[in-house]
Amino acid sequence: MSAILGLSAFYHDSAAVLLQDGRIVAAAQEERFTRRKHDHHFPQHAVAYCLQEAGLTATDLDHVAFYDRPRAKFSRLIETFTAIAPRGFGTYAKALPLWMKSKLHLPREFDRALGGQYRGRYIFTDHHEAHAASAFFPSPFDEAAILTLDGAGEWSTATIGHGRGSRIALSREIRFPHSLGLLYSAFTYYTGFRVNSGEYKVMGLAPYGEPRFAAMIREHLIHIQDDGSFWMDQEYFNYCGGVTMTSDKFHRLFGAPPRDPESLLTQRDMDLAASVQAVCEEVMLKCARHAHALTKSRNLVMAGGVALNCVGNGRILREGPFENIWIQPAAGDAGGALGAAQIAWHHVLRQPRAAEAGDSLRGSYLGPSFSNEDIRHTLTARKAVYHRQDSESCLLDRVVELLLAGNVVGWFQGRMEFGPRALGGRSILGDPRSPKTQQVINVKIKFRESFRPFAPSVLREHCQEYFDLPHDADSPYMLLVAPVREEHRLPGSADRMSGLQGIDKLNVQRSSVPSVTHVDYSARIQTVTPEANGRYYRLIKRFYERSGCPMLVNTSFNIRGEPIVCTPDDALRCFLGTGMDALVIEDSLLLKPEQQALGDSDVAGYKRSFALD
Ligand SMILES: [Fe+2]
Repeated sequence: MSAILGLSAFYHDSAAVLLQDGRIVAAAQEERFTRRKHDHHFPQHAVAYCLQEAGLTATDLDHVAFYDRPRAKFSRLIETFTAIAPRGFGTYAKALPLWMKSKLHLPREFDRALGGQYRGRYIFTDHHEAHAASAFFPSPFDEAAILTLDGAGEWSTATIGHGRGSRIALSREIRFPHSLGLLYSAFTYYTGFRVNSGEYKVMGLAPYGEPRFAAMIREHLIHIQDDGSFWMDQEYFNYCGGVTMTSDKFHRLFGAPPRDPESLLTQRDMDLAASVQAVCEEVMLKCARHAHALTKSRNLVMAGGVALNCVGNGRILREGPFENIWIQPAAGDAGGALGAAQIAWHHVLRQPRAAEAGDSLRGSYLGPSFSNEDIRHTLTARKAVYHRQDSESCLLDRVVELLLAGNVVGWFQGRMEFGPRALGGRSILGDPRSPKTQQVINVKIKFRESFRPFAPSVLREHCQEYFDLPHDADSPYMLLVAPVREEHRLPGSADRMSGLQGIDKLNVQRSSVPSVTHVDYSARIQTVTPEANGRYYRLIKRFYERSGCPMLVNTSFNIRGEPIVCTPDDALRCFLGTGMDALVIEDSLLLKPEQQALGDSDVAGYKRSFALD
């Protein structure tokens, strides 16, 4: 049996993936184990987990594949510095020793990290080739157009390609420093959020604003062609050589310095978010149309960090020329580990793709799971009070009763998800019909800004009753946004919102499922099927039978700045440190009033242990 380890590391979102005879056996991000969000170090723990899941040691690995080519990236760094010198000298002087010491000697570093046990060779793939492979090979399509969009790989920042059978080929690229991902990150920085982390907050803020700066962005910052290619005026940016994303010229153009992180969000910030989102969607749509013109395919697959822009993805599905879209759930750099391993399997070893029903990520439940025995051991050791529910039916009844009574429930079941979204493996759940759920979860549990919307996990067969998802599409990975149908919107709610500014709109009840309806009546949907996650499906179905509502609020099981929980111990700490009312870990149910309350200093210490994102 052939074993291939795929790795991504040293930039952000390090991860490991293990393929056995081409089948994805395990995949996980390093942050889940180290509890450091977006951890960029060598994924030591993720590798150990993948090997353990497969019952292997590093000696048993046939190939190790890495998601980019360090020498090509280094040459990009040097060429960029040469072009802008002496500007950026400090940044480059700081980066160089790390390149000289380790990044240019990765085989040696990997040998060491794998304990000297691995005897095979290392395969290095182009960064965007890895993104493209991660998008096409696990997809349900035998043939598809491929679109990758991110910050930057070696030189590419966007590519268009085509996949058929066990081969992919990229035919178009946009090169650094012209980058849609970096444009979005520049506005993430400018609106006071953390780059490579807060981009989805900008997307969540956009519906509160008007895109009144979009024309200015198009005129000065980015020149977009009809085929989706673009050129960015670097005088407005500082990412080539500085420690900031935007330049003084950018700040002069928009009339103010960047917003201080954590300061009050203004209507102007919301308008900036709406503007960059509008420009981003325009480029995504044009790129998708060009990919269609080049390939004539009915299918599109996507990856790269920009493919996490589910609002843009939803527009491609609604307005673009493709009948089917599939987006790889770990679309950011974590997924590069998957793509690198698949390049090794299909291109280097020339192995065919196995026929699988649906996609081959199996719901993205590819991380660690824990036995009831392990869980009870942890709970007992931590002196937690729990109720063992031997029958699943009793467990589901109890959880549904708690949800119907307005409680917020931590839900920890099966294998952990690969990628940034919680999909019913490590989720926090609530009743979407209650107008209070959004605020309660944001303020009492997540400790974060209340403007952020939640996503619905909806029974696949009921999705169309509530949401206008074209072509009756699936959205198993919560990467498509679609409008709530008119019949579920509350009459007069648009008028009531029109007189309000910014976040005040959130207080207007907009639909029959207000906690999952954004102020523009959009929703970020996860469709749930019994094949992908049986127990989660049955829970939602039980909720539907009692309430007539076929969905739940689903948000990731963590607090602000914390990676999604991985172990029962992580889950228990989050449950005890927040206002969560109940916790289900496999067959064990915990109720908050029965637990020994944490002291204020313990709760404060828990919150402080994660840097704000
Ligand atoms: Fe990337």
